[in-house]
Order: sequence, then structure tokens, then C-alpha cells
Amino acid sequence: MRKAKVLLDRNFTIGRTDPRLFGAFVEHLGRCVYGGLYEPGHPTANAKGFRHDVLELVRELGPTIMRYPGGNFVSGYNWEDGVGPVEKRPKRLDYAWFSTEPNSFGTNEFVDWCRAAKVEPMLAVNLGTRGPQDAGYFVEYCNHPGGTALSDLRRQHGWENPHGVRFWCLGNEMDGPWQTCAKTAEEYGRIAVEAAKIMRWADKTIELAACGSSGRSMPTFGAWEDTVLQHCFDDVEWISLHTYLNNWKDDAPSFLASPDLMDAFIEEVIAIADAVAAKRRSSKRIMLSFDEWNVWYRTRRPRENRVKPGWPIAPPILEEVYSLEDALAFGGACISLLNHADRVRCACLAQLVNVIAPIMTETGGPAWRQTIFHPFAQMSRFGRGDVLRAKIDCEGYAASCYDPRGTQELFYPVPAAPYLKLAAVANEGGGLSLFALNRDLEREMTVSVEARGFGKLALGEASVLMHSDLKATNTKAHPERVKPVRLRGTRIAGASLRLKLAPASWNVVQLVAEK
Ligand code: AHR
Repeated sequence: MRKAKVLLDRNFTIGRTDPRLFGAFVEHLGRCVYGGLYEPGHPTANAKGFRHDVLELVRELGPTIMRYPGGNFVSGYNWEDGVGPVEKRPKRLDYAWFSTEPNSFGTNEFVDWCRAAKVEPMLAVNLGTRGPQDAGYFVEYCNHPGGTALSDLRRQHGWENPHGVRFWCLGNEMDGPWQTCAKTAEEYGRIAVEAAKIMRWADKTIELAACGSSGRSMPTFGAWEDTVLQHCFDDVEWISLHTYLNNWKDDAPSFLASPDLMDAFIEEVIAIADAVAAKRRSSKRIMLSFDEWNVWYRTRRPRENRVKPGWPIAPPILEEVYSLEDALAFGGACISLLNHADRVRCACLAQLVNVIAPIMTETGGPAWRQTIFHPFAQMSRFGRGDVLRAKIDCEGYAASCYDPRGTQELFYPVPAAPYLKLAAVANEGGGLSLFALNRDLEREMTVSVEARGFGKLALGEASVLMHSDLKATNTKAHPERVKPVRLRGTRIAGASLRLKLAPASWNVVQLVAEK
């Protein structure tokens, strides 16, 4: 039996979770849109072609903001192709994913879908093949009330009222050689600041996110953020971060330690952004938008899993099937995000349906929850409130996380990953939610929690995600093989509690204030 101690104090907070921390991402990629959330003719589809079964699962998942239309796709996208009469929209080759884009679903359909799903739309502009003027035109088309060519065009297309899209991304992963028209930090910084100016002239209420590095293992990471922010600091509110956790080496302990690298990544980006602020004697703080994060590796490297020959429409690519082990690492990532709630004020799980997604569908068939669905839904449901600065006393282990760059073998050490990874959120009304990952694969863990500054607590909901087989997955035939079940053995005395966590388990304990 492993032992851990957690000390919390209601007054010692990291920050309040912004609702946008619980976002997700829809890209024109594989079957995310077509055959995913949009499938006219599907038995559950409504008149707009939105799959009702998917919408129901999205509501249960609980995302708050949705990034669109890419991803790599956006860097070659003409937004005009996706608006206006559907029969007149062009089919285009998509060089990001070597597919054919039919454009039957575009910005207006996306905004309608967001309204149906009750999420805030977030749009990205193309700063690959296009530039500042088109980005400004896109904002004008979406957000200007009327009386100009572009805003009246939107009205002619059937959307009388402006969409009021607040959050805009200035391109995507512009440092990545795979990106259509990738740029150096200087080139991108210049184009981003000019796009930002025009976009904000078109609508002064918008918020703008500059692209950070496409990953911490990029050779330009750090220098990229610094240069880009030197150009954009005054014109953006956000800088983006992307991370995909992997288990390429089939090393479960290191995989479960890898979310700790997200903590380091976040803290490094904060340091760089604040250093840029310091050099300008500015009290402004750039916030972090972790607008792509997930587990992704099986379908990342092999080209046949990413590209299907013959330029098909909506090919089944990047359809990662997630295991319990993936859900545990994913839960660790949720904890990393929560524990930086003061600066990570927006995050998007990449992606939503079929493509590295919590929701899977069969085209023409059912939809089901992948293993990673559960930690996300629980984080969105119970993670609202003040994240507490937890003092955790628990033994750690050394890990070595693999994240190759090109042909180079790279290992990132995590010298001491505590077996217990935990986030604590003080909820409205005196309640407390605990998110706890037991990273010990062999041993059960007893966790004693002292929650100072809370009244008498009573058990609300308590669940555990575990399975005898770390590789267990949910499939169409077995959609509920991995799902949360009741966590037993929790003892509460006032504001002290004792939890029993199974080996290799993700646990969520919600406590309510006793009246
Ligand atoms: O989410 C899949 C892809 O990963 C996105 O298109 C891109 O931004 C990232 O490299």
C-alpha cells in the first residue's frame, strides 16, 4: 500500500478556472466534420444535417468553446469557399491532409452547430497562403452588422445577425515545416501583427491568439515565442501551445509521467511571455491558450494512417482508438491544465469527433464514448471554481519520456514524478472537487486529505476509471468497457478525508458542504 498526504487551504488558490479552459477542436480533417458531427441523411440528423446522437454526446462531454476550421487545414483554406449556396461551393484539394474538401459545411454551418451544441465558436484565420487583408475580410463577414459588401453578403446567405465571434486564432503552427507556407518567427510575427491590426479595426471587441511553437520539442521553441511576442505583444491577448502525449516506447510509467512535461512547457511559456513584458516595462499579462492537447501517437507517424490515396472526401484518418492507459495520461493532462488556471485560461482538446477524439461514430451508424471522454467530461463538470494550491507529500519515480523530432531520438527526463498527481477545485457553495491520478501501476494508494478552511464536507459523487487491462478500449461492439464506476472506501470526518485509490486509476471525488 502506497501512502500520500495532501494539504489544502481554501484561501490558497492558484486561480479561478475560466470556462474556456474546457474547449475542444473541430478541423476539416478525416471524418471529424463529414460523417462525424455533420451527416445529412443519418437517421438522427436534423434538417441542417447535424447528427443528434453526436450533439447529445457533445452536450454530455461539456466543451465550452470550439476551435475551427483547423489545424493544418486552415493554412490553405479560403473561407469564401465555405459560404453561400452549397451547390455553388467549389471542391478543393486539401494539401494538409491530401483529401478533397467538398465545402458543404463552412463557417455559417459551424456557427449554427455551435449554437445547437451550446458552445462558443472560435475561428482561425489562414496566415499560410493568405494574409492580413483576407483575415480582416473574414472578421467583417462574420461580425459586422451590415451595410458593407461582406456583411451584406452574410445576410444574403441567410445569416441576418452578426455571428459575434470573439476569439480568433492568428493562423496555426506556423513554425512547422509541414504547414502550408510555414514561416520564420520574424516573418510570422510581422504578418500576425498586421493581421491583428486589421482584424481589430474590423471589430474592436475581438480577442486574438498568436501561434506559439507547434510543440516543446521544436528546435525553435522559446526563441519563436520570444520573437513573435516582441512583434505582437501589444496586439494580442493570447499565445497558443500544442502538445500531444505519446506512448511510442510502450513504457506505461513514463507515459503517465509525461503530463508533467506539460507543466514545464506551460511554465516556460509564461516565463518567456513575462520576460517580453518586463523588457517593455509592461504590466500586461499574455494568457495561454493550450488550443491543441491530447494523446496522439499510433496514427501520427505511419503515413497510411494519415493519408489515403486518391484524394478521397472525409477518409478515415487519425482515428486513434484510446485505451484505459491513454485515459490515465489524458487525466494527468487535465490536472496539468487545472493547476495552471491562472494563466492557461483557454484550452482545446484536439479533436472532437472521430479524429483523435473522445467521440467516435460509424458513418450511417452509432456514436460512442472513447475512454478519454470520461476524464474530460468530469473535468468540465466538476472543475469550475478556484483551483487550490495543493501541497502533496508522496514518493516519486524517475521517468524518461520519448518525443522524437524528425529522425532524432529525443528523451525528456522527469526526475521525480509523484505517484499521485492531483488537482483540487473549490466549487461554488463550499464544495470541493478532487481529481486524482494514481500512477503506481502495481500498488493501491491511501490518500489523506486535510482541507483547511472548509466546513463539514459530505460525499457527493465519487468515481474511478480503471480496468484490469491497461490496453482496454471502448469500441462499437463494447462501447462501455471502460467507464467510471463508483469509488468505494472514501472516509470523511469534517474536512479531513481518506481516499483509497486503485493502482493505475483516475479518480474524481466531489464533496459538498454539509448544511
Ligand atoms: O490535430 C491534428 C493536427 O495536429 C492539427 O491539424 C495540427 O495543428 C497539429 O499538428
